[in-house]
Parts: sequence; structure tokens; C-alpha cells
Amino acid sequence: MDKYCIQTYGCQMNVHESEKIAGVLQARGMTACADVADADVIVLNTCCVRETAETKIYGHLGRIKSAKKRDAVLIVCGCMTQRSEVAQSLVKRCPFVDIVLGTFNQSLIGDYLDRFIHTGVKTVDIWRSEKDGELRDTPPARTSGINAWVNIMYGCNNFCTYCIVPYVRGRERCRPIDDIISDVDGLISSGYKQITLLGQNVNSYKWQDKKFVDLLKMLESDKKYRLKFMTSHPKDISIELADLFARSNNLAHSLHLPVQSGSDRILREMNRHYTRDEYFRKIDAFRAAVPDIGLSSDIMVGFPTETEDDFMQTLDLVDRVKYNNLFMFIYSRRSGTPADKMPQLDYKTKQERIDRLIKRQFEISKAIAGDSVGKTCEVLVAEKTGSKCYGKAQNDAAVTFDNETATVGDFVQVKITSAVNANLKGEAI
Ligand code: 5AD
Ligand code: SF4
Repeated sequence: MDKYCIQTYGCQMNVHESEKIAGVLQARGMTACADVADADVIVLNTCCVRETAETKIYGHLGRIKSAKKRDAVLIVCGCMTQRSEVAQSLVKRCPFVDIVLGTFNQSLIGDYLDRFIHTGVKTVDIWRSEKDGELRDTPPARTSGINAWVNIMYGCNNFCTYCIVPYVRGRERCRPIDDIISDVDGLISSGYKQITLLGQNVNSYKWQDKKFVDLLKMLESDKKYRLKFMTSHPKDISIELADLFARSNNLAHSLHLPVQSGSDRILREMNRHYTRDEYFRKIDAFRAAVPDIGLSSDIMVGFPTETEDDFMQTLDLVDRVKYNNLFMFIYSRRSGTPADKMPQLDYKTKQERIDRLIKRQFEISKAIAGDSVGKTCEVLVAEKTGSKCYGKAQNDAAVTFDNETATVGDFVQVKITSAVNANLKGEAI
């Protein structure tokens, strides 16, 4: 047992959890490999936020079955298998899977692996415990280059009517503020240039009398690093945060603030607890405090009962906000959520709306990128091949430039010389 291969679906939370699983396996002396055919232990970390993810995962499991070594151990974990009906059907459909875990007990992966190796006993354990004291963080084997992910909280209390997350990740649990601060201090001291705080709704972070804004203030440092966080909820994000952005040495000038829809009626049906006007007011406050802020969002089309008029409201919102980057999704039915029981739209209407939205956003991103030409920005170099450097500007725009001396982890002033669609090219100054 000396090689492992972890394959991850889904969001940054999953990416970081895979790093924790890698930490457990490395502590046993194992090393990572990229090809499942070489691995003694294969881990598939799954997502269930949309049906497309689940379908892909089943297809992927079939491919793993034919590519893996005969005696390799196959572990499936994450959000998809936290749903008991899915865990049960998975072991029936895929008897070649050896260990099934959910999201709550991934830290037990080493124990179950030992049990399987020594006794051949397969395990399905999706038992959940949501007590704070039982969150067992394993030191992660980090794989995200100059960036380090740091959980500040787990779970979600919001129950947006389309979303499966609260069912598979449980209620909100915040990590102790001192633990977060010491993690971040340690990571900066060991050379990480970007820290991304993770939580399903970071704005509702609370530890004793400290709130999210207090945590960010406590993470201010004289050492040069970029501080990011995700995900924010428009109902909870405070205007105080806009002022902090304006003053901070560390906070990156980018904000991901998922709006989901531009229609007040749909936002109510989604249980989002804000109106489009309230959303605009918050966006205006952030833009006033930080004029160069890069804004991004998640938008879903085809939510049950969405009319053409509702959808036009979404297009109008996108036109008004002018996001730098937008993640666009077709609503996907998730069993057990309230929206699954509402009247559904046909596939063609949903597909046609997403096509229109993608087209509109493409034009906006292109125009924003075009406006950047001639401007100067600070780029954090994330990768370098030969003399070609790739990184992100303060506002999260992707920038490439040629430079012999810059190295990964450097902050470089770059003048933007051209834009191809949303990709910026520049030269170091
Ligand atoms: N269908 C489609 N998209 C969804 N998201 C969450 N649940 C669903 C669903 N059932 C999207 C939301 C969220 C992002 C992470 O995934 O836009 O912000
Ligand atoms: Fe899902 Fe809403 Fe929680 Fe985000 S805030 S994880 S969309 S329930």
C-alpha cells in the first residue's frame, strides 16, 4: 500500500477535504499518484449539488472499475454518499466499492482502511455527529499551490429551497476563532501567499462575541499576503465589511456574492431573504468603498415557476451589476428539497434561458476585460512555465505575462496590454 489517487468533484470545500484525506494517507507513508491504474488506494470525493454531478460520478466509477488494479481499495466519500438512499443504492450498483463515507466522518478513513486491509470488512458509515468538539481536523496535505484553504465553519442553516447542502453537511458549526488565527499565522509563516477562508455562509460566522468582520480584522498582518473568503450570503453580508475592504492591506479586492435570481418573486420562493433592491444597495456600498472591486456571483435559471418576466429580471440585474465573473447553472431537482415539489419547467425552456444568460455575460466579461487594457494591476504569480507567468490580479482577473525573473508567489505590478475575451495579457513594470 504505497500509492493513493484522490479524485474530487464539486466545490472548494471538497477540494480542501480531499487535502485532509491526503493528509491522513500521507501520515501512513503513502504518496500521491495521478493515475488510478497505479494506485493502491483510490478515493472518489463526491458532490450532489446538481444531478449532472451525480451522473458523472456513476460514469466515472465505471471507468475506475475497469482501470484500477485488482486489489486496489476503492473509497467513495463526500456529499453524494452522505445521503443514505444514495449510499445504499451505490453499494448495490457498485459492489466493487470497498468503503463508503459521507461528509461527517471522513476523519475515520484511516481506521476503516486498516479494517479493510486486515479483515476484508467493507464499511458504509454515514453516521452524523454535529457537535463542535467532534470536528476532527486532520492536518491537510495541501495541493493548491500558493493558496491555502482554511475552514472557518461547516454546514448551513439557510435551507434555500433548491439546495441539498444543509441536508448533507448539517447545521452551521463555527470553528474557534483562536484555532483559525493560529492556522492562518502558521500558513503565512510557512510561505503561503493567499489564504481563502471557507464556509457555506461565512458572513454568519460567530465565535463568542466575535463576528466575521472581527475575524477579518484579527487576520490583518504586516506580512504581505492576500486574504479571500467564500461564500457570502447577500442577506448576511454587512456594509461594515465594505469599509474594512477599503482599509485593509490584505483583503483581495474581490467579492463572490451569489444572487441566484433577479426576480423578487423567485427570490422569495427560493427562501433567500433579500430583494433585488437590497442586493443592489449592498453592491453599491462595496463599489463605493472599493471602486476597483471584482464582483462575481452564482445565478440559477429555470427555478420552478420561473416565468419569462422573472428571467428578464435576472438579465436586467446582470446588466446592471456587470459582474466580472458569473457562474451560471440550470436548476436541478434535488429530492428532499422543497423546490422538488414545486411545478417544474421543461428542459427546453431552461436550456434556452441559460444560453441567453451565458451570451449576455460573455459580452459583459469581454467589455470589462477590454476596459482593463492600459491599466496597471498587482498580480500574484500562481504558476510559471518557462518565462510565462500566470496569476490573478487583486480583483481576481486572470492575467498572463512574460518575465524571466518573477517567481511563483511574487506580487508583480503588471500593465495590461491586450484582452482576448476575458483573458488578460500584460507586461511587468
Ligand atoms: N440546481 C442548480 N444549481 C444549484 N446550486 C445549488 N443548488 C442547486 C440546484 N439544485 C448552485 C447555486 C449555488 C451554487 C454553489 O450551486 O447557485 O450558489
Ligand atoms: Fe445552499 Fe443556500 Fe446554504 Fe448556500 S446558503 S449552501 S445555497 S442552503
